[in-house]
Amino acid sequence: MKKALLIGGTGFLGSALACRLGRADFALTLPTRRRERVKHLTVLPAANVVEADVHDEETLARLMAGQDLVVNLVGILKGDFQRAHVELPGKIARAAAVAHVSRLIHISALGATADAPSEYLRSKAAGEAAVKAFFPQATIFQPSVIFGRGDSFLTLFAGLLAIAPLVPLACPQARFTPVWVEDVVSSIVASLDYPESQGQTYPLCGPRIYTLRELVAYTGWLSGHPRPIIGLPLALSYLQALIMEWLPNGPMTRDNVRSMQVPNVCPEGSTLPFGLTATPLEAVAPDYLAKR
Ligand SMILES: NC(=O)c1ccc[n+]([C@@H]2O[C@H](COP(=O)([O-])OP(=O)(O)OC[C@H]3O[C@@H](n4cnc5c(N)ncnc54)[C@H](OP(=O)(O)O)[C@@H]3O)[C@@H](O)[C@H]2O)c1
Repeated sequence: MKKALLIGGTGFLGSALACRLGRADFALTLPTRRRERVKHLTVLPAANVVEADVHDEETLARLMAGQDLVVNLVGILKGDFQRAHVELPGKIARAAAVAHVSRLIHISALGATADAPSEYLRSKAAGEAAVKAFFPQATIFQPSVIFGRGDSFLTLFAGLLAIAPLVPLACPQARFTPVWVEDVVSSIVASLDYPESQGQTYPLCGPRIYTLRELVAYTGWLSGHPRPIIGLPLALSYLQALIMEWLPNGPMTRDNVRSMQVPNVCPEGSTLPFGLTATPLEAVAPDYLAKR
């Protein structure tokens, strides 16, 4: 039985990956900051959910010992980007190299470049560089926004649409190429059978480009709460985000608005690597968003 360590494996994408790798006979270690929050994973027979501080290098070294595969899925949309997106990937890559782990997979984000407009995207680019510095054979994936049951994108809009009479929408013309969570998982798992994927970076996109307005309108229609959408100009988008930054669980920040200034689309309309076919949003979203 092969052994895999999924760091950040308790989140939306990590849980889907854990289920798939568990079925593929991997023994999994899933570190978390708070075990009681991830009870859904403690029932997976192949998964060992452990409370651990993955920023601590001794803890990391202990977790890495004997692993065949390490996947880093830690990501945040606000907070200390330098620590979570740059320092931690560097520590993980260095520890994986020292422990002679055979495969390291790092989840970055589409649009991660050193000159991107947002700190989120710039820190993701710096994280990729940190990973490559210590573990040049790492495989890096850069997904566009990910959808699927439990996502925090369309599900979040569905929740807002259920209670709001209308939607004042920041960046309505922002463009995305949503990719299904199971397609992201399939790409990660497929890469394990392609030795030539080592040292490579793969953008991951769905089959179609949508504006944010289209995605919100589609979510409203599907969930049975179609609402008027008032597109906000850029200055008001920033103002709305500034106000939301003061809310405890505010769904948007000014940095998110900056991220949306670059189209979240794959180069030359590409979708998935390794001959995989991307699943359309319309084939999946009704399953978890449609009004019952
Ligand atoms: N979801 C998307 O649409 C999307 C799009 C592009 C790229 N990505 C990238 O894909 C990866 C997975 O995303 P996701 O949606 O699955 O994220 P998620 O659901 O928010 O999960 C994030 C994971 O990271 C861990 N984590 C968060 N902050 C941490 C910190 N400061 N220190 C240590 N661990 C921390 C959490 O673990 P505990 O809370 O259990 O400790 C959790 O397991 C991320 O790198 C993200 O940037 C996601």
